[in-house]
Amino acid sequence: MSAPTTKPVAVPPWPGAKADGLVRLEINGESAELPIIVGTEGERALDIAKLRATTGTITLDEGYVNTGSTTSAITYLDGEQGILRYRGYPIEDLAAKADYVEVAYLLIYGELPTSDELDSFRTSLSHHTMIHEDMRSFYNGFPRDAHPMAIVGSVVGALSTFYQDSLDVRDPRQVEVSVHRLLAKLPTIAAYSYKKSVGQPLMYPRNDLGYCENFLQMMFAVPCEEYHVDPDFADALDMLLIVHADHEQNCSTSTVRMVGSSDANLFASISAGISALWGPLHGGANQACVEMLERIGADGGNVKKYVDLAKKKDSGFRLMGFGHRVYKNYDPRAKLIKATCDKLLAKLSIRDPIFDIAQQLEEVALADEYFIERKLYPNVDFYSGVIYRAMGIPVQMFTVLFAMGRLAGWIAHWIEMHHSPTKKICRPRQIYTGEKRREFIPITQRT
Ligand code: ACO
Repeated sequence: MSAPTTKPVAVPPWPGAKADGLVRLEINGESAELPIIVGTEGERALDIAKLRATTGTITLDEGYVNTGSTTSAITYLDGEQGILRYRGYPIEDLAAKADYVEVAYLLIYGELPTSDELDSFRTSLSHHTMIHEDMRSFYNGFPRDAHPMAIVGSVVGALSTFYQDSLDVRDPRQVEVSVHRLLAKLPTIAAYSYKKSVGQPLMYPRNDLGYCENFLQMMFAVPCEEYHVDPDFADALDMLLIVHADHEQNCSTSTVRMVGSSDANLFASISAGISALWGPLHGGANQACVEMLERIGADGGNVKKYVDLAKKKDSGFRLMGFGHRVYKNYDPRAKLIKATCDKLLAKLSIRDPIFDIAQQLEEVALADEYFIERKLYPNVDFYSGVIYRAMGIPVQMFTVLFAMGRLAGWIAHWIEMHHSPTKKICRPRQIYTGEKRREFIPITQRT
């Protein structure tokens, strides 16, 4: 066999990352030198972009368990240590010291706002909260029992039809207008999807209220009486929106980036993200989790029985709200949510049997060898539903609230991708495993 030839590969300008040497890979006598890329927290990646061109081989990684799709300066998470930071700030500090609008600004613009910047951002959001009157009539056309995620995804997609003056992805001013429109209008769109399901009149937004207060007002107020927003509910909601605001390259964020990579407009990209979030393995897990806790409660509250069931592969049952692709430690968001949950239930003097079952389930699962071995801990969805229930938010709206929080992260990633000098349309490859070329059989000869 002849000596392998080495074809050096140029290091592409991965934004924000440094090159740290080369790895030499030999495949079928062809050899490639692949750059190692290092991020600011020391994470390392092998840049394989040129592997096929040099060796004729691609990498295969179903579900992208070991594949970095991009470099990103937005969110850092360390699943082993249970660390989550937005733009360098620990999630615990942001949840304690900032509000959602401030965090949204941080994620999207990259820095914490000055008070003038924050005031003008808030003012802009509170002046874009209404949706076009013709859009309100859409809600008459949806079936009353439609899932609110289906409504929200459709209405957000339809923003492209009503706001055609801000669709140009290459015009920074138009993008900014779309960003403000989305952040301002999503709570309105979301609250209307709930009002539709209960047959109540759609409440107009109120510009004198804060982001979360306004949302709660549109959810629960009715035109025939005064409604006072409970500040503890608004605070709990604000914390939940913050902890859901970003989580780097998860399924829905990757979807937003993938759709946006074709230069589809921001509304279309976010609508796709909402669809991805809906699934029970992603954002839909908070609804699935409460339904599971209710099922356990209705079945006598025997948590051990359900932990055992989750361990049986052929049962098709998993503990919803447990486990995470990245966290192999207690999800830091679940800690913050559990603490708020404790506080809110104590203040309301509520004894929610679902919360008791959740706590027992956590205790039994965390002591079980199966869960210990696989490093399965409660995730963000495990306790959030209990808070939503305490606030009177129906179970079908849980994932919608997740979408409201995640919106800031989706936008930040979409913008980051568009600003990247290495941006390309996302287009994975595959290894074909179907039939080889064969002759067409006329229908009369098929058996
Ligand atoms: N209950 C029981 N077993 C589980 C669970 C669970 N919730 N989660 C993972 N496992 C087991 C798997 O069966 C597998 O066991 P094995 O190694 O013996 O085959 C092992 O743990 C690893 O699980 P994978 O499914 O390979 O892990 P993956 O990273 O693909 O999945 C996921 C992560 C989808 C979140 C998974 O843990 C799950 O289905 N959890 C329940 C749904 C949920 O809560 N989703 C919300 C995630 S957070 C979010 O998206 C906002």
